[in-house]
Amino acid sequence: MDTFDRILQVEELTKTYGRGDNKTEALKGITFDVLEGEFLGIMGASGSGKTTLLNCIATMLRPTSGKIILKGQDISGFKGSKLADYRGKEIGYLFQEFELLDNLTARENITLPLSLHGITAREAEKDIQELAAMLDITGVLDKFPGQMSGGQKQRVAAARALISSPDIVLADEPTGALDSKNSKILMDKLSAINKIQNKTIMMVTHDANAASYCSRIMFIQDGCIFHELRRNIKKESTADFYDRIVAVMAQLGGGSANVL
Ligand SMILES: Nc1ncnc2c1ncn2[C@@H]1O[C@H](COP(=O)(O)OP(=O)(O)O)[C@@H](O)[C@H]1O
Ligand SMILES: [Mg+2]
Repeated sequence: MDTFDRILQVEELTKTYGRGDNKTEALKGITFDVLEGEFLGIMGASGSGKTTLLNCIATMLRPTSGKIILKGQDISGFKGSKLADYRGKEIGYLFQEFELLDNLTARENITLPLSLHGITAREAEKDIQELAAMLDITGVLDKFPGQMSGGQKQRVAAARALISSPDIVLADEPTGALDSKNSKILMDKLSAINKIQNKTIMMVTHDANAASYCSRIMFIQDGCIFHELRRNIKKESTADFYDRIVAVMAQLGGGSANVL
C-alpha cells in the first residue's frame, strides 16, 4: 500500500477520562488507517468509545497517548492557529442533532465555517449552489432551521460540513434523529458525495441500514477494535452487506438489541 493512499493513520490511540476511582478507559490502544476516498463506518454498543474516537480525530478531545496523522502530519501536537485551521479547513463534522444556529438561514449556517476564514458568502455562492443541488436543499437556502424538516436540516448540516472542502468528513450518528425515509435520503446523498467527489467519510452509526452504504466497517467494543468488515463494492449489494453487518452486530454484546 502506498502511503499517499492513506489519508489518516491512527496509531495506538488511548483516551482515559478522569482519574483514580473515576477513571474510564474509553480507548485502549486503537490502530487503523483510512484510505483516501473510503467510506468507513464505525459501529459498536453505546459507551464503546465511538464518539471519543471521532472527537479525538476532530481535535475536540486530546488523546491520552498515541498518534493521529492526517496526510502525513501528526495533528496531536497542533496548537493555536494551526489547530483552528485544521478544524476549520481539513475536517468537516456532522452531528446527530444537526447543531444548526436557529437565528441564521440555511445559507448563513452553511457559510459560517467560511466566514471564520474570511471568505464571503458571495465568493462561495457557486460552491453553495453546487452543494445545495447535490443535497436537494436549494429551496430552503433562505429559510431558518425552524422552517425546515429534520431531513432538510441534516442535509444543510452536511453542506456546512462540506463547504470548506475538508479532507475528511466525520459524522457521529448522522441518521440518529431522522426517520427511515430521511435516513435513506441522507445516506444516498452522502454515498453519492463519497463516490462522485471521492470524499473520505468516517461515520459512526447504530443503524445497519446506514452502515450498509459504507465500504468498510470497524466494530468497536470496550475501546478496542473487535472486528472489521469490508464490502466488495463491485460484487456485493448493500442488501448482502447489510446481512453480514447484522450478523456481526448479533455477536457484539449478545444481540443487535444491545447495539441499538
Ligand atoms: N466527558 C467524559 N467524561 C467521563 N467519561 C466519559 C466522557 N465521555 C465519555 N465518557 C465515557 O467513555 C466511554 C466511551 O464513551 P463514548 O465515546 O461516548 O461512547 P459511544 O460514542 O460509543 O457511545 C463511556 O464509558 C463513557 O461513559
Ligand atoms: Mg456516541
